[in-house]
Amino acid sequence: MPLTSASTSTCILVTGGAGYIGSHVVKALGEAGYRVVTYDNLSTGHPWAVLYGDLVVGDLAHREKLRDVFDHYRPKAVMHFAAHIVVPESVRNPLKYYRNNTANAVNLLETCLELGVESFIFSSTAAVYGDPREIPITEDAPLEPINPYGQSKVLVEKILADCARAYPFNYVSLRYFNVAGADPRARIGQVSPEPTHLITRALKTALGQIDRLEIYGTDYPTPDGTCIRDYIHVDDLAHAHLLALEHLLSGGTSRIYNCGYGHGYSVREVVDMAREVTGIDFPVVEGERREGDPPALVADSSRIREELNWQPRHDDLAYIIKTAWEWEKRLQEHPEQFQN
Ligand code: UFG
Repeated sequence: MPLTSASTSTCILVTGGAGYIGSHVVKALGEAGYRVVTYDNLSTGHPWAVLYGDLVVGDLAHREKLRDVFDHYRPKAVMHFAAHIVVPESVRNPLKYYRNNTANAVNLLETCLELGVESFIFSSTAAVYGDPREIPITEDAPLEPINPYGQSKVLVEKILADCARAYPFNYVSLRYFNVAGADPRARIGQVSPEPTHLITRALKTALGQIDRLEIYGTDYPTPDGTCIRDYIHVDDLAHAHLLALEHLLSGGTSRIYNCGYGHGYSVREVVDMAREVTGIDFPVVEGERREGDPPALVADSSRIREELNWQPRHDDLAYIIKTAWEWEKRLQEHPEQFQN
């Protein structure tokens, strides 16, 4: 994307910019010529993941520190990624999720309003739909989360809608489907001490770090009996954030968009593709259903395609898995580079 004079002088504050999705968005912002400041408590993020701009280590609970950062950098817009994301943990410890994902978002919003930041981009999730009644899912589908993680995000969406009605404030909420893949140069990618996501677990099984991949349930009402998900490459998602930002900075109003490609793959199809990409026939066993997994989650993404002219470039499961594979191999071969 060419640098514009507007973007080079425009500072964007990114909470959670040292995490998986946030760091890919920081990369995209930096490449587009924006000034970036990442605000991250490094609970799950990493300093090496911040490829552009400044990193301020801080927590959203620390209002004064947050205000100082806003004062110093004077951001034009805020992108808010910092959140807990582990569904089973949210069931065991809901208050942790309501504190960090919901209450801390209120801290951030209050700071935005105090310091005159009127543009806000929020990381939402397909988990807001719970177990959807219709596939593909449009943004108008009912919000019926089935776990505290999804509920914590729904609450923020409702707060954002109220803020947009009450104050000079506009937001875009992006509801992510199954985000996967990594930077094609394998500089950044997903890191988790206890990975739960299918593609990451499949690749770690191929590397021998996990003994065998378990398929959680083979009796779902889908063609091959396993769950279907809409996997989206993290760089396409990052690009959606840039378009949302341009929309708000050019005076656009508040919007909610699904971010997925609009078609899904079953767990078995992902496993087959992971075996093909890696060339490794890693062990797979069929197990019981995992609690809380809806049979299918597929986005209707026509709204973001039509309104923001989002044109994904990596709608290709093999590419998604290949970039994740290069990243997993790099993590295994050079652990010293990713220690902090
Ligand atoms: N799965 C397995 N074995 C594994 C891991 C996963 O069979 O070892 C299955 C799951 O049961 C599910 C599918 O693979 O059917 C995808 O599971 P993930 O854990 O990779 O992702 P989820 O669909 O559970 O959730 C992700 C995000 C949520 C988000 C959702 C939206 O973690 O925050 O995508 O689609 F809401």
